[in-house]
Amino acid sequence: MNIKKICCIGAGYVGGPTMAVIAQKSPDIKVTVVDLNEKRIAAWNDENVENIPIYEPGLSDIVASCRGRNLFFSTEVDKAIDEADMIFISVNTPTKTYGVGKGMAADLKYIELCARQIARVAKNDKIVVEKSTLPVRTASAIKDILDNTGNGVQFQILSNPEFLAEGTAVADLLMPDRVLIGGDTTEEGQNAIQKLVDIYANWVPKERILTTNVWSSELSKLTANAFLAQRVSSINALSELCEKTGADVNEVAKAIGMDSRIGSKFLKSSVGFGGSCFQKDILNLVYIAKSYGLNEVADYWEQVIIMNDHQKRRFGKNIIQTLYNTVSGKKIAFMGWAFKKDTNDTRESAAIYVADDLLSERAEIAVYDPKVQEDQIFYDLDYLESRSADENRRGLTVTNDPYAAADKAHAIAILTEWDEFKTYDWKRIYDNMLKPAFIFDGRNLLDKEALQKIGFVYQGIGS
Ligand code: NAD
Ligand code: UGA
Repeated sequence: MNIKKICCIGAGYVGGPTMAVIAQKSPDIKVTVVDLNEKRIAAWNDENVENIPIYEPGLSDIVASCRGRNLFFSTEVDKAIDEADMIFISVNTPTKTYGVGKGMAADLKYIELCARQIARVAKNDKIVVEKSTLPVRTASAIKDILDNTGNGVQFQILSNPEFLAEGTAVADLLMPDRVLIGGDTTEEGQNAIQKLVDIYANWVPKERILTTNVWSSELSKLTANAFLAQRVSSINALSELCEKTGADVNEVAKAIGMDSRIGSKFLKSSVGFGGSCFQKDILNLVYIAKSYGLNEVADYWEQVIIMNDHQKRRFGKNIIQTLYNTVSGKKIAFMGWAFKKDTNDTRESAAIYVADDLLSERAEIAVYDPKVQEDQIFYDLDYLESRSADENRRGLTVTNDPYAAADKAHAIAILTEWDEFKTYDWKRIYDNMLKPAFIFDGRNLLDKEALQKIGFVYQGIGS
């Protein structure tokens, strides 16, 4: 029997876009995305489709094309589980903040809650798909819960990790490099795999749909993120050496990237990687390696995080040093707060940590980001608990006008690579800044020569 009804638990950055694309490409399947967060579900159902809670280029059009037809957003979790033949678990798996594995292991409490809820509600056989990023061997824990607390129905567990990147989620979902599906090697397992393959085959070429055993699939997701993050930390490590030696990291990246064995992607030096997953997934990998006593393996990957922390901190330190060793009372304009362009997501954004360091030195920060709201920015800062909420609001202001952010500033720091920053009237910005007017380009985004010609003192990363 083909899949007729899908339920996805978790209407976040992954659940929302992934299910919207499945629904659009599979008009015969009813897709219901459920979440406990009523505000989020209400936003997904907002009459004005531009108000959906996640900003991704192209997403609102896809949602508009199938919402109310075969794509539904709801808080009725039990009902959607009960109806579904296939249930995706797409809830958050943050780093644990308590107990054993604190600061390293993935917190699987939301996953376990989902498994228990599915077990309680399901009255007929279901395929349960791990969409969240999970430690290798989680499927056996889910299976254990389902089999021991369920109503005697059969469950097949598949691993189908998501590789989309934020900002390009829709393009990544429509044209994935590959779709990975792991399942049991038994006949029932292979049948379940085939059902999920059939759904993706509605738009993904068959040769891009890869099937493996469950453990390979789970571990491949952590491995992919570790490799990607490792490339960024590798080029960032070299950026510091470039600054000392007169080499230019962009030129080095180009030179090595033309070697087809290395490849040119993910070699952009920056103020450090952010986002909800790279750090969390590598810490998780480190934790898993340690739990098997593989200390050298753990140390190897942990270095990627250590390097990234260093890169974020040294950006702030350089601003302080260059501004004559004090930023106290000096206005510094932040261009960008999101962890990368084309998203309103700020989780683990380098901007948060740079701002925190500069606020500790009593700088006055003015932030402009085209997509991030003021309350999110203060939420991010308050979360660090470095100072009181009042102090954060005294030290940092948020504006929706980039020119106002830079007005009478001593320096501008580019934290996110938004395209619009390249189009600004930089002469106008320069004229209204204090002199010397500094630009610290944490993304090597702007035209160095043009800015220097205007009169800016320009510093990029790695040159
Ligand atoms: P998110 O925080 O945006 O969304 C998760 C949602 O799950 C939240 O809205 C939360 O309310 C909901 N939820 C949690 N427990 C629930 C429960 N018991 N019942 C119903 N709803 C529940 O997270 P995300 O960014 O979408 O990430 C989800 C998973 O996908 C994570 O494991 C992450 O590592 C992985 N992932 C994320 C990305 C990305 O780009 N963000 C990419 C690939 C994989
Ligand atoms: C990343 C992976 O690219 C996705 O494949 C994966 O699905 C996802 O994590 C996940 O599991 O959550 P994402 O974090 O959304 O996606 O965005 P990336 O494009 O990977 O960027 C991550 C961070 O690295 C950003 O802060 C970005 O600015 C930075 N980066 C990226 C660089 O500094 N230099 C680069 O060359 C590339």
